[in-house]
Amino acid sequence: MTAAIIDGKAFAANLRAKVGELAASFEAKAGRKAGLAVVLVGEDPASQVYVRSKGKSTLEAGMNSFEHKLPADTAEADLLAVVEKLNADPAVDGILVQLPLPRHMDEQKVIATISPDKDVDGFHVTNAGRLAVGQPGFVPCTPLGCLMLLKDRLGDLSGLDAVVIGRSNIVGKPMAQLLIAESCTVTVAHSRTKNLADVVKRADIVVAAVGRPEMVKADWIKPGATVIDVGINRVPAAEEGKTKLVGDVDYAGVAEVAGAITPVPGGVGPMTIAVLLRNALVAAFRNEG
Ligand code: GUN
Repeated sequence: MTAAIIDGKAFAANLRAKVGELAASFEAKAGRKAGLAVVLVGEDPASQVYVRSKGKSTLEAGMNSFEHKLPADTAEADLLAVVEKLNADPAVDGILVQLPLPRHMDEQKVIATISPDKDVDGFHVTNAGRLAVGQPGFVPCTPLGCLMLLKDRLGDLSGLDAVVIGRSNIVGKPMAQLLIAESCTVTVAHSRTKNLADVVKRADIVVAAVGRPEMVKADWIKPGATVIDVGINRVPAAEEGKTKLVGDVDYAGVAEVAGAITPVPGGVGPMTIAVLLRNALVAAFRNEG
């Protein structure tokens, strides 16, 4: 069997176009553009690429993009002051502080300072709690993007066995909450899980979010399963001195067994920014009342 390829890039382009239309109607109603602020601390190259890409997509969707770049040695109090200022700024509907932060900063404290009503990442404990009790406020972008792809592919997910590999606050835990809300039977596997291959083999839906290149192998997958690969790992390419991006799933092998699979790149990656823009616009409409 050869799996269908889930085209996240095309789905995300569609979603971005819809967000663009909503952004235009927001502007007509509110008399101003919706605004998304992104804060980057330090010079992590991957984070710089993400932030640039977020800024460009925000402008393309017809929204204002406010970028705040702070040096790596910024004091935590100064970052908190920037966040407070953005909380109070009526032109800013959504705030995203790019993670990871430099080691001298307490990430949870910084996230807790973002107003839950502007927390378009859905990382604030208030939004995590809302998701957990089934009254979602803002939902983290990557898992929500994964869910959109799954529902587009499978329709009703109720009763399906889902295995989420990874238990991060950004992906694994909210992904599990979203799948529970869809009435899946959810298992969250992680680095201490025993017999991981056997656990994954039971799944109709596999979401891999561990950050380990090509860890999930073909013989772990139930034939016909839907496989969502959240991993973005840079590894050496065959050609000397070059690198390439691979997911957490051994794509070539797993595509022979799975029913459907997201590629890397072009699967989940483009969904994250599209959902971020969507969340920012939802924030704009809500904050405008
Ligand atoms: N770093 C990696 N992914 C994300 C994300 O979705 N949001 C933020 N703020 N930082 C990240």
